Amino acid sequence: MTASLPRVAVFAGARAGRNVSTLTSESAEHSPAPADHFLPGPVLLLGAPGVGKGTQAQRLMADYNIPQISTGDILRDNIARGTELGKAAKVLMDRGQLVPDEMVNDMVSARLAQPDVQHGYILDGYPRTLGQAEWLDAHLSSTAVERPGGKVLPPVAINIRVDEQELLRRITGRRICTACKHIYNIYSKPPKREGICDIDGSPLHHRSDDTEAAFTERMKAYNTLTAPVIEHYSRQGRFRDIDGDQSVEQVTAAIESALRELRGAGA
Ligand code: AP5
Repeated sequence: MTASLPRVAVFAGARAGRNVSTLTSESAEHSPAPADHFLPGPVLLLGAPGVGKGTQAQRLMADYNIPQISTGDILRDNIARGTELGKAAKVLMDRGQLVPDEMVNDMVSARLAQPDVQHGYILDGYPRTLGQAEWLDAHLSSTAVERPGGKVLPPVAINIRVDEQELLRRITGRRICTACKHIYNIYSKPPKREGICDIDGSPLHHRSDDTEAAFTERMKAYNTLTAPVIEHYSRQGRFRDIDGDQSVEQVTAAIESALRELRGAGA
């Protein structure tokens, strides 16, 4: 990891991170959960590269009408806009390495200051190191989400697990719409026309870190730096492991059932 990198343009990136998480057709076509006013509060969506965090975050966002905050998306937005932060992050991301904690903590801090997080949010791919987890715990203890009844909701962590061979297939097969960000997979969820989004006809994009070589490095970072984060939240008790080797719909159902259990709302 690099010791210090630019901290500029973080806020703009964070706002854009919200923009890139607007509903895609998958979330739009996905039936919302029963409108029983259940709100999951802050949700940390954890798991290795390609387990389906982004796919599931888009669906949870539609079901609960809470924002998805993806540190990967915010960083990619900075890259697309050519910010100093984006330029520094791209080198690391293309190598499959994590960007420094202070950079992502700043981004998350700016994003969590936005008013739309009041009833909860999905943190997709964050925290990824013990340093980020400790920073987040301290940050949230002073800025907790409150329900109308005044109850303070601590974060709950969901860890999706998928076998590594399947992850490689998911990563190398992933294609993303350059406009609406809808996620495809050439093996399991191909578009009707090769390289073209079914929804808006825009070209599909293959992420520059979705190569086998970068995946190997991303898995190393995950196993050494992110595995202790999972242990950290597991010890706190507000944690569930979810089998991600099921259909997208089954994974969503398992996550939503776990969220209700964790919040004491019945499964
Ligand atoms: P980030 O963008 O967060 O990447 P990641 O964690 O590696 O996760 P991915 O986006 O690759 O996968 P996903 O789990 O969202 O899977 P998806 O739903 O797309 O981070 C990228 C980089 O940014 C990092 O390497 C790092 O450099 C940097 N970074 C980001 N956050 C950071 C942080 N906090 N600290 C430091 N650095 C950070 O699905 C994948 C594919 O599988 C798709 O094709 C999809 O269609 C398919 N699929 C999904 N679910 C299923 C299913 N159930 N069955 C079959 N196929 C499925």
